[in-house]
Amino acid sequence: MSARGRFLEAAAGLTSRAARRAPVEAARAGSLFWAWLGRTAARARAVGREIATGTTLAPERWTDYLDYTGTAAAVLLVLQAATGVLLALHYEPHPSLAFASFSAVGTEVPYGLLVSGLHAAGARLLILVGMVHLLRVAWTSSYRGPRAGHWYTGVALLSVMMLSGFSGYLLPWGQQSFWACVVGTEAAGALPVVGKALVHALRGGPEVGGPTLTRFYLFHVFLFPLAVAGLLYWHIQRVWRTGVSGPPDATARPDPKACRGCGACERTCAFSAVFVKTGQEGRRAEVDEAACNACRACVFACPAGAVALVRDNAPVPTEPIFPHNVLRRSAAVLAALLVLFAGVYFFRGLAVGHKVPADPLSTPDRIKPDWYFLAPYQVLKILPSERWGLFALLAAFGLVAALPALDKKGPRRPEDRPVFIRVFQASVAVFVVLTVWGWLS
Ligand code: HEM
Ligand code: HEM
Repeated sequence: MSARGRFLEAAAGLTSRAARRAPVEAARAGSLFWAWLGRTAARARAVGREIATGTTLAPERWTDYLDYTGTAAAVLLVLQAATGVLLALHYEPHPSLAFASFSAVGTEVPYGLLVSGLHAAGARLLILVGMVHLLRVAWTSSYRGPRAGHWYTGVALLSVMMLSGFSGYLLPWGQQSFWACVVGTEAAGALPVVGKALVHALRGGPEVGGPTLTRFYLFHVFLFPLAVAGLLYWHIQRVWRTGVSGPPDATARPDPKACRGCGACERTCAFSAVFVKTGQEGRRAEVDEAACNACRACVFACPAGAVALVRDNAPVPTEPIFPHNVLRRSAAVLAALLVLFAGVYFFRGLAVGHKVPADPLSTPDRIKPDWYFLAPYQVLKILPSERWGLFALLAAFGLVAALPALDKKGPRRPEDRPVFIRVFQASVAVFVVLTVWGWLS
């Protein structure tokens, strides 16, 4: 047989083999898809059932409402994605068109000013709410034990959101956008060894220009949203699994009558605070109240439902998730939306800024990044060299990010942790002072 004949025969064999296998593979792929869909639907049903019939901790003091800042941030984030997609329908990511297309949204597109204002002010509020959420969690040391992963995913979320803000700030291609990007990317150049290459890679060349806008647009509308969506899913899934932590002054207490001494609570405790002892009545769980962090892992782990949270010898109150807790969370979300809409309505000029198009040949008198970068920018300005400034910022970030590894055990009540609380207050004060100083200078 000729070479061509052998080739045709082999090709026919291959094709028919492939054709025979195709339905099997399609069926396998199909069944994998249906299996995944089934699992997802089952999980969604379980979550729905838990919301409809489950209970959670009820707030007692007004400060307990700060526990809902995470929910408010999640809703603001969804709003950010929705307004961002609408803006992207009109925005042109090119240096000669960007400013005009950004301005046209506010003047020519129906409700454009509202959508643009909501996106711009929403970004600033989202990061503020994210920071308040972080401070709340840090104040009560809710990042310990089973919630360390919540903290790490939270830090990653906030960081990516700030980077989203940084990349979004360039898109209007106004004078402040342009020069804030020049200064911001320049700071990366202070890193030893990789600094110069990093600046070049971020800008797509030696200067901020068209390639920078293209990159930042790609980061802003694709890469960062993808990262935020993944991290948010991860964060919320973790929070859902552990539930929220109990009040810092509460402690777990097993009911000796209901306890079967199975040891599930002991195995799950990350603080070595719960242990099973054999006494006259057999094996019973006991709690070292000084070590207990009220993380509730033992409450969920006990198959007999024998462990409860108590404070001042009274049970910590709970309430149905639906409708009580859902309504409380909705109130927190409404409050955030009210602040956002009021901000857009009363401070429209501030919300939709960028009145002057970018001019690479004229440096403005004052370069102002977004509010959350004012403090880092001020650090870069006041320290003797940019490299020192960058190291100081990285060290501060590292300390915050590593908090669950640095503070693992001990009391959670702020009154019992005076050193931590002093450092906390001093850090917040330094951040506020630097931000105001950056705003005024
Ligand atoms: C974490 C989420 C996000 C944050 C923090 C954020 C932040 C920002 C900021 C601060 C601006 C500049 C606005 C100004 O100063 O006037 C901006 C602009 C913009 N963003 Fe976003 N954004 C987010 C998500 C998105 C998404 C998901 C999209 C689209 C898919 C998007 C599309 C745009 C567009 C097209 C602009 C330029 C037009 C304009 O400024 O009005 N953003 N963003
Ligand atoms: C957009 C950003 C964020 C969203 C949407 C979010 C969402 C949430 C939600 C919904 C909860 C449940 C309690 C609540 O409603 O507040 C929660 C809890 C938690 N979050 Fe976040 N979070 C964000 C950022 C962060 C950050 C920046 C951190 C810390 C670095 C963090 C750490 C935690 C921890 C430790 C908990 C558990 C708190 C407890 O059990 O008492 N989150 N988050």
